[in-house]
Formats: sequence, C-alpha cells, structure tokens
Amino acid sequence: MAYISSMVEGLLNSTDEFPTVIVNDGSIKTIEESTRWISDNLELLEAELNCTGAILFRGFPVKDAQTYDDFFSAFNYPNFTYKESLSNAVRINYTEYVFTANEAPKDVEIYLHNEMAQTPLYPGRISLFCEEAAETGGATVICRSDEIYKRLVALEPQLTNKLEEVGVKYTTTMPSEDRPESGQGRSWKSTLSVNNIDEAETKLKSLGYSWEWGTDGSLKAQTAALPAIRTLNGNRKVFFNQIIAAYMGWDGVKENPESALCFGDGSPFTKSYLDKIVEIAESISFDINWQNGDVALVDNNLAMHGRRPYSGDRKRKVLVVLGTAISQ
Ligand SMILES: [Fe+2]
Repeated sequence: MAYISSMVEGLLNSTDEFPTVIVNDGSIKTIEESTRWISDNLELLEAELNCTGAILFRGFPVKDAQTYDDFFSAFNYPNFTYKESLSNAVRINYTEYVFTANEAPKDVEIYLHNEMAQTPLYPGRISLFCEEAAETGGATVICRSDEIYKRLVALEPQLTNKLEEVGVKYTTTMPSEDRPESGQGRSWKSTLSVNNIDEAETKLKSLGYSWEWGTDGSLKAQTAALPAIRTLNGNRKVFFNQIIAAYMGWDGVKENPESALCFGDGSPFTKSYLDKIVEIAESISFDINWQNGDVALVDNNLAMHGRRPYSGDRKRKVLVVLGTAISQ
C-alpha cells in the first residue's frame, strides 16, 4: 500500500521540530484502513512520538467518539478512565474511555500543564480529537517540557535545581458538588471516588495528602511532595508539573501563589520565578488550530498542553482519551 510509505517518509525523526504533522494523502478512506495503517507503522510512530512529543493526524476518517475510540485503540495503550483519575476538571463521558476535554466556559483559558501531574497517578499518553472546531479561537496549545527545562535551568539554575530536588506541593479546594463553570470544579466525592467524609479521609491518608474541611462542605487538600522535574530514559530532563496552570489559572493563585503552590520542603515560590517559567513556556508554545477530524497524540511526559479561550455560537467539541497509567 503506497500511502503507508509516502506518509511515514515525512516523519521528522528529530527532536528539533514540534509537533510532527501527518496528513492523510487521501488513500486512507475508512476507519479500518486507519487502524491497519497505525498497526503497520506502530514502531515508527512511537519512535517519532518519542522524538517530538506530539503528533497531529489530519485528514483521517475520524468522525465521532466511536471512530475516535477505534483510532486511538489501534495504538494499544492500556486505557485510563476519567473515573479512576484524580483529575479536578468536570468532564462528560462518551464511550468508556472517551470524554470531553474540559467543561470550563469558553472564555476561560486552560493554561499549560502535564495531564494530572498534580496527582500521584497520571497518564503516559493523552490524545485529543476535534469533532467540531470553535468559530474563533479554541486552539489546543502544546509546549515541549524538555525545552522548558533546558531554558529554565540555564536562566535560574539554583531555584530549578532546588525544584528538582524537593519537588512541589499543590493545594486545591474541591467543592461539595460539581461546578462545571470552573476549570477545576470537580467535587471531592467525584474526584476521590468516595461517598462520604470517612471514605474521603481514608483515601486522602492513603495518598499522603493533608486536608481541612470548609464550613461550606468543601475540602481543601495538599498533596505530598510530587516531582516537578522528571528524568526520562536517555537522561532527558523534563519540566513536568501543573505549576503554570495553577499559577495562571486557579482562582486567586496569581495574586497569592502560596494558596496553591510551594516547594516540596514547604518554602514559597517567588512571583519572579513563576513569571519566568510562564514567559519561557509561552515563547516556545505551539497552537494546534483545529480542523474537524484532527487527532493529536501527545506524550504526556514530554509535552504540556492547554486550551486557548474561544468564542462564537457553535459549540466547540474536543474529546480526550488517556492511556497508560503511571504512578509517581
Ligand atoms: Fe489537560
């Protein structure tokens, strides 16, 4: 099948470019042909993902949640359900594994993050599928975590080495009920998969969190120290965390970073260090300007992602699948 070689010949096989874009040359017409093509080229595609951290598939016959589920399944990653995750975003499931990216309102920016890096369990792979692009805006922004690290350690070696050594702790407040209007409005019952306070406290203890109950039934929880910089195979260091998303996007954190973030030893971050991180990441970010049917595959260790705000009457519909659970 000629199309196989012509499309994979275009692979970059280089860490200098980002992301890889693979455009169907028109010869793959059905979802069955797509999944066969993926299976036949799996090794090459994985090697490419390991280089650039993200692949955008354009023009493949992926139309809806089911065909997307089929497309992603061809990569054979062990799946990861939203229910078992400790994600703090409100989402809606379409198939067992496919769910909405984030139900936050369109004017809310979701800032760069590695998926679920603020929890002890995170996916090694994240994929996004655009069923319906927004009228204006709504790009998924992606950024290389290894490039952020390289630039940050060159500019701020002391703080960055400390961050690597002691990690980071996150504090979040989970409401008593789901609040879809917030980017992090998942209730504590849903987040922790529990039914009552006793079960919640047992779960928190097992996760190594500390916590405090609010008078309104909310739960404020602080994680144990989690890695903020990870070393991957081949000694590749990555800035892997939710520091940017927390600082820029969580309620009141920009004004008061200590309300959500501290080094793993309890010491505070300075605003100037946080601002530098944000500036570096923004300078090397890439916007995926969605076309209907696009599928992005992201190595969650190697690249961060986020969502630009959008506008217009049409409902943007971007779906997500996670793969390969990793404990940290
Ligand atoms: Fe995300």
